[in-house]
Amino acid sequence: MPPQKIMTPKKLNSFFSPYWVLLVLILLCRSTSYAVNEDEQKDFYIVFLGAYPVKREEAFETHLNVLSAVKGSNLEARESMVYSYTKSFNAFAAKLSKQEANMLSDMNEVLAVFPNRYHKLHTTRSWDFLGLPLTAKRKLTVERDIVVALFDTGITPESPSFKDTGLGPPPEKWKGTCGPFANFSGCNNKIIGAKYFKLDGGMAPGDILSPLDLDGHGSHTASTAVGNLVPNANLFGLANGTARGAAPSARLAVYKVCWVNQGCSDMDLVAAFDAAIHDGVDVISISIGGGNPNYVSDSISIGAFLAMRKGIITVASAGNDGPSMASVVNTAPWIITVAASGIDRSFKNTIELGNGKNVSGVGINAFNPKQKQYPLVTGVDAARNSENKENARFCFQDSLDPNKVKGRLVYCKLGTWGTEAVVKGIGGIGTIVESEQYLDAAQIFMAPATIVNFTIGDTITNYIKSARSPSAVIYKSREVKREAPFAASFTSRGPNPGSQRLLKPDISAPGIDILASYTLRKSLTGLKGDTQFSQFTLMSGTSMACPHVSGVAAYVKSFHPDWTPAAIKSAIITTAKPMSRRINSEGEFAFGAGQVNPTRAVNPGLVYDMDDLAYIQFLCHEGYNGSTLKVLVGKPVNCSSIVPGLGYDALNYPTMQLCVKSNKEITAGVFRRRVTNVGPPAIYNATIRAPTGVNITVKPTSLVFSRTLQKRSFKVVVRAKSMPSMQILSGSLIWKSPRYIVRSPILVYKP
Ligand SMILES: *[C@@H]1O[C@H](CO)[C@@H](O)[C@H](O)[C@H]1NC(C)=O
Ligand SMILES: *[C@@H]1O[C@H](CO)[C@@H](O)[C@H](O)[C@H]1NC(C)=O
Ligand SMILES: *[C@@H]1O[C@H](CO)[C@@H](O)[C@H](O)[C@H]1NC(C)=O
Ligand SMILES: *[C@@H]1O[C@H](CO)[C@@H](O)[C@H](O)[C@H]1NC(C)=O
Ligand SMILES: *[C@@H]1O[C@H](CO)[C@@H](O)[C@H](O)[C@H]1NC(C)=O
Ligand SMILES: *[C@@H]1O[C@H](CO)[C@@H](O)[C@H](O)[C@H]1NC(C)=O
Ligand SMILES: *[C@@H]1O[C@H](CO)[C@@H](O)[C@H](O)[C@H]1NC(C)=O
Ligand SMILES: *[C@@H]1O[C@H](CO)[C@@H](O)[C@H](O)[C@H]1NC(C)=O
Repeated sequence: MPPQKIMTPKKLNSFFSPYWVLLVLILLCRSTSYAVNEDEQKDFYIVFLGAYPVKREEAFETHLNVLSAVKGSNLEARESMVYSYTKSFNAFAAKLSKQEANMLSDMNEVLAVFPNRYHKLHTTRSWDFLGLPLTAKRKLTVERDIVVALFDTGITPESPSFKDTGLGPPPEKWKGTCGPFANFSGCNNKIIGAKYFKLDGGMAPGDILSPLDLDGHGSHTASTAVGNLVPNANLFGLANGTARGAAPSARLAVYKVCWVNQGCSDMDLVAAFDAAIHDGVDVISISIGGGNPNYVSDSISIGAFLAMRKGIITVASAGNDGPSMASVVNTAPWIITVAASGIDRSFKNTIELGNGKNVSGVGINAFNPKQKQYPLVTGVDAARNSENKENARFCFQDSLDPNKVKGRLVYCKLGTWGTEAVVKGIGGIGTIVESEQYLDAAQIFMAPATIVNFTIGDTITNYIKSARSPSAVIYKSREVKREAPFAASFTSRGPNPGSQRLLKPDISAPGIDILASYTLRKSLTGLKGDTQFSQFTLMSGTSMACPHVSGVAAYVKSFHPDWTPAAIKSAIITTAKPMSRRINSEGEFAFGAGQVNPTRAVNPGLVYDMDDLAYIQFLCHEGYNGSTLKVLVGKPVNCSSIVPGLGYDALNYPTMQLCVKSNKEITAGVFRRRVTNVGPPAIYNATIRAPTGVNITVKPTSLVFSRTLQKRSFKVVVRAKSMPSMQILSGSLIWKSPRYIVRSPILVYKP
């Protein structure tokens, strides 16, 4: 089915509708400025009317009426409206001038108006590494009823990861649909839903109006979350093993919202939430950049809130803008924000220099050299002419002299991706790229190439300078072991720009060199001239980390179908494997609570549970104007009449963060928390780890549970001395029973 087309309403507008009165009033106001309006630039906006539509048919009419009020006529309203969201949201998207948008936001029935923005994608052995072996205990009958939604670039239905072997028909609750679509072989009992959303003009240059994945990103993330078992999956023999998702029996619902060369727009994301919530998904996985730290004006944050109210958990990527501080995105407290970590494997290649010395580069180079050595030249020495020397240093297009490159290896600094294609395009044999970044993730090359750091770069350039006829050879990549886990250099760091009281990211999962499903419709690098294709490929990014946690959320839910999103999130956070501050000086700002531990997350012992009200209390506490909260709850909130929340952060969050004030000798935070016993009767004792200069106390120090689902409250007081700016101190509170360890990181920092 094509997306949410604007349907013709079944009956004409009721003449007595209050909107007519409004319309007349607004038309009266409008007439004076009409001429100015005509030439004004129009952009897409999303207009929210209420959290839940009353009746779908009526909702659509309401949208048209509200829009007619500023557009002047029903016809104009129809022409400018691109979406009417009626399944889960009461909202619409339309092309509006700034003035029309302002008029709409002044209307009583309008909760909020946001300009439509574009988001970016956050571009198998990892499960064994995480301790979730093939033989892990599963609740298969329930797992088969769990539906994981992927908001991404679509899907490759032919991929072996999405075979429906062993799966019966979709669960009864499922209300989603699936095609037919152009070039889409259709759904099966694995892919039980597929839709695409693109209405900003409808065109898709370089893409196809179908849930088909022409990018590879969506197939990769989907197979990481719920992919079926595929033995002997590999890329050029590398990373060989059984590819699989965390919940290989869970179902997949595909919502294509990201488009080749265009990104992912808010309007389409809201449409995907609108549909997915209605369709009956359990988990929503979003490997897409947020970008707006305001929790009430970001489409992912708003959509995830509505999903949370329906018991659906949203998992999203933290972003790839590390190691810059305060770069983390998708930070709403009702979202699980996932950072990327490395596993114990990397891909290297040996470069043998003409003097017999070997140095090491990073990357996926599938090419075996044909000769023992090739002549080696620097980009600068191969410049087309003296004016081009600076561009030639980076081997930019058209800067090199083909005669000086032919038959040679070229040494370049990293300028743009795809340097090896430039060198190959003019007859070069291969490329050695020097880079100071991105060295923890392996790039795939379309021609012989590797990436080296600047120390090795110096060795090579010194050798080129000193040798009479320098030469080298790049060998095919191989797998090497390394120490893990560690935070990826690129993973976005805290502190959370959305709130000083909320630790983000929440959790880490593997996001470096992850092998998963790809598409045969695109070459491995996407570079011109690349003839390498593969059903599986390696990708890196928080995009890859996110679906690991989405899959784990589905896995946990298969054991505890009635748990709230907050309980599932708490289970995932408090059971994480702590990561080392020795290798990652930004601590929890880089890796959150640590690395996700799927098997322990199923049995957390205690959970920090929360309802909708806690989030509203938190937002009021954060200083959000009660009238801006109406977009979340459907009506204005009077923050002064809301009982203050639980303490310093007003949330029953499983982590704690204290921001030290510069004007105070001592900053104190009182964190009130309440845990629910989800294990058998037990006594839990507290262990506090306080960093130097910080005092942490907990009261009581022992929690006695005589039955399952019993709740117990406690109070944590954190007192910190004034400290230098950007200092980060890590502590923790651990509740221990003979069977369970429930760990909460406590982070103290000074902005
Ligand atoms: C879609 O199918 C048509 C007809 O078979 C084909 O020409 C076209 O290349 C296909 N497009 C994609 C993106 O696969
Ligand atoms: C992958 O591993 C399997 C089992 O260990 C082996 O049979 C197969 O040949 C390997 N494939 C490649 C391409 O190395
Ligand atoms: C350099 O690496 C090549 C390929 O692995 C190997 O054959 C050669 O022996 C190495 N040379 C030295 C000096 O280690
Ligand atoms: C460059 O890489 C080499 C080998 O992997 C390593 O020993 C060296 O410390 C690295 N240098 C820098 C500056 O990272
Ligand atoms: C909240 O925002 C509304 C509209 O912008 C404004 O009228 C009101 O004064 C604000 N309230 C507070 C408490 O800031
Ligand atoms: C908000 O609540 C406070 C306290 O209950 C009350 O005094 C105030 O009148 C309320 N404001 C509005 C606009 O309802
Ligand atoms: C921590 O406790 C010690 C001993 O009671 C006290 O001397 C110190 O000032 C306290 N520090 C803070 C930051 O409260
Ligand atoms: C908890 O503390 C109590 C009292 O100090 C002690 O008797 C008990 O053994 C402790 N339990 C555990 C699991 O450490």
